[in-house]
Amino acid sequence: AELKSMNTLGFSARAGFLASPDSEQSLRSVLEFACQYNLAVLPIGGGSNLIVDCDPPVLLIRMANNHIRYSECEDDKVLLTVGAGVCWHDLVMDSVARGYFGLENLALIPGMAGAAPIQNIGAYGVELSDRLVCVRGLFIDSGAAFELSQQECNFAYRDSIFKKQLAGKVVITELELKLSKSRADVVLAYGDLAARMTDAEITPANIADEICKIRSSKLPAPYNPGNAGSFFKNPVVDRITAEQLREHFPDIPVYPVKGREASEMKLAAGWLIEQCGLKGFRAGSVGVYDKQALVLVHYGQGSAEELLTLADYIRSRVLEKFSVTLEIEPPKLSDLIRTISP
Ligand code: EPU
Repeated sequence: AELKSMNTLGFSARAGFLASPDSEQSLRSVLEFACQYNLAVLPIGGGSNLIVDCDPPVLLIRMANNHIRYSECEDDKVLLTVGAGVCWHDLVMDSVARGYFGLENLALIPGMAGAAPIQNIGAYGVELSDRLVCVRGLFIDSGAAFELSQQECNFAYRDSIFKKQLAGKVVITELELKLSKSRADVVLAYGDLAARMTDAEITPANIADEICKIRSSKLPAPYNPGNAGSFFKNPVVDRITAEQLREHFPDIPVYPVKGREASEMKLAAGWLIEQCGLKGFRAGSVGVYDKQALVLVHYGQGSAEELLTLADYIRSRVLEKFSVTLEIEPPKLSDLIRTISP
């Protein structure tokens, strides 16, 4: 299978095999087949958070189950069960159109629902972990089913158990989310989001609409030019380091880290990169997006190698100026393959 249209950075590569099971049942058959023929298995999603840097000699599995089910639960809450193969943004728009609060801040995030827990997608003050009840799937080796509660997923900023202990071991098939009929959990703290709406305008659909406008003003659409959203994580530093940086650079944006307010602060990697004069910087077929320095872009005909060379250059410039180390956010395909148990 040619992967160019399956990764939003738009790098070319060939996979050994690709399967798109549309149910847990058919996933189980695919896993049995892989076991029988001794094929290594790697689940992928929409390829919007992936650096395709090799020809993966494996069976790629991209879930295609696309059920969305709502059920009433206690008080003003609604339980949402969603198949891994549903497009995340379609899910958000479906839920806000029904008038449910919960996912509106996560509008326009590319990718599939099943991939959302892996990096704990987050934007504009809300993370998936704030809305998630549990994750279901199958173990690749045994085909056994698992269900992990929100607590058991070890969620943190752009992190979860699926990137650590369970990396390469499971295929996620379904998520359960908890939404609200009332605006109790609405988060409008980002920028001027609150100021953009009157009280009566605070509906799930209107908030999603504003989020879409903010996102499209700063972030490129997937593939156009090729990109994987934020290319680096926002670095988390201890409070003392943050204070020292603020003394040297009074304008530096610094944010609290959820649950770790006392000890740690988050810096804005995009700001650090822009301060190094690299916003809009271009090196051949790759570059730094001119509206958001945290996004690296591929203009076509380039390779992951070129992009990673640019990333190294950016990291060294930021390290030199701020003594802060940037960590690449999207995983490399070659690293994911290394996590697969032989
Ligand atoms: N900034 C600059 N120059 C830039 C970019 C940003 O000075 O070129 C400054 C902004 O002015 C602002 C701060 O940096 O003060 C933060 O920027 P922004 O609000 O655009 O968000 P971000 O920190 O760059 C993070 C997420 C995004 C998410 C937004 C909104 C990460 C790695 N990225 O970006 O997520 O949409 O916040 O919540 O945490 C993604 O993960 O792919 C992604 C797009």
